[in-house]
Amino acid sequence: MNHQKPIVLTGDRPTGPLHLGHYVGSLANRLLLQQTTKQYIMIADVQALTTHFDDPKKVHEHVIDVALDYLAVGIDPNNSTIFIQSMIHELFELTVYFLNLVTVNRLKRNPTVKTEIQQKGYGENVSAGFLMYPVSQAADISFVKATIVPVGEDQLPMIEQTNEIVRAFNRIYNTNVLVECKGIVPEIAGRLPGLDGKAKMSKSLGNAIFLSDEPDLIKEKVMKMYTDPNHIHVKDPGKVEGNVVFTYLDVFDSDKKKVAELKQHYQRGGLGDVVLKKYLIEVLENFLHPIRQRRKQLAQNKDEVMNIVLQGTERTREIAAQTLKEVREVMFLDY
Ligand code: TRP
Repeated sequence: MNHQKPIVLTGDRPTGPLHLGHYVGSLANRLLLQQTTKQYIMIADVQALTTHFDDPKKVHEHVIDVALDYLAVGIDPNNSTIFIQSMIHELFELTVYFLNLVTVNRLKRNPTVKTEIQQKGYGENVSAGFLMYPVSQAADISFVKATIVPVGEDQLPMIEQTNEIVRAFNRIYNTNVLVECKGIVPEIAGRLPGLDGKAKMSKSLGNAIFLSDEPDLIKEKVMKMYTDPNHIHVKDPGKVEGNVVFTYLDVFDSDKKKVAELKQHYQRGGLGDVVLKKYLIEVLENFLHPIRQRRKQLAQNKDEVMNIVLQGTERTREIAAQTLKEVREVMFLDY
């Protein structure tokens, strides 16, 4: 085994195909990281069940969607190991051990969990499974002994909580079998706003552009995109800050000079939203076209895609078995 390269663990809930927010928030980082690290990418189907326990069929279907998205953007199975969370049973064992090391109050204070409970309207009726998902995430990260976790900004509280658990584990069981990790948030944009400009892009908020969206749909979505509500007539000066079209151009258009010119033109007036949006559609299409083509090609042979994932899972299982052996030893569970 190669212990030279740093170990990376990351993943996504398969609750739908991946969108531009995923790309900016983590996929772009993973494409870079896979060149220099040993990267594990987890399809978090068990975590998806914390919100979709009553619709397991949907979660099942989205596993292949997410795998297709990974491969379509250029995740290389020779450099990155893609695996399915539910197939690594050691994760659930480790989660149970970890649960003793966290208080319910601490979980209720986790900012990401707090926001999600609000957004989803769970209130006091939040399930135990949902509330404790950061603990399960701590198990995801620590069972491969990852030191790097590329995440969106909203996931940083999970990293903090993981490290608290890892420290508690090592202290209480007088060991160093688990290692602390560091979250890396992309520089360009920790979070990409959704079409509405109100919140980050998210499938559940209905403000997302998916990597697999067809050109017509992208057009429709961009045309609805939030700009400057006070920019009513073409001749009016418009605002660039908070204008989602410009946020996207900043991220996806490599022609920075052109974007700077468009911004000036918009601010002084005379540049209409429709013209501006048509340009963004072109930029997004240039970016998404090759991804969409590759995805379609891969989708013609889903068995092969599934095989890649199952092989990755097999490799990951070996690591899980080894780590849990060490964990049981220090917990006097090695009967
Ligand atoms: N919470 C992540 C998401 O919602 C998915 C995830 C599960 C994850 N376990 C992880 C991400 C471990 C990074 C590390 O997308």
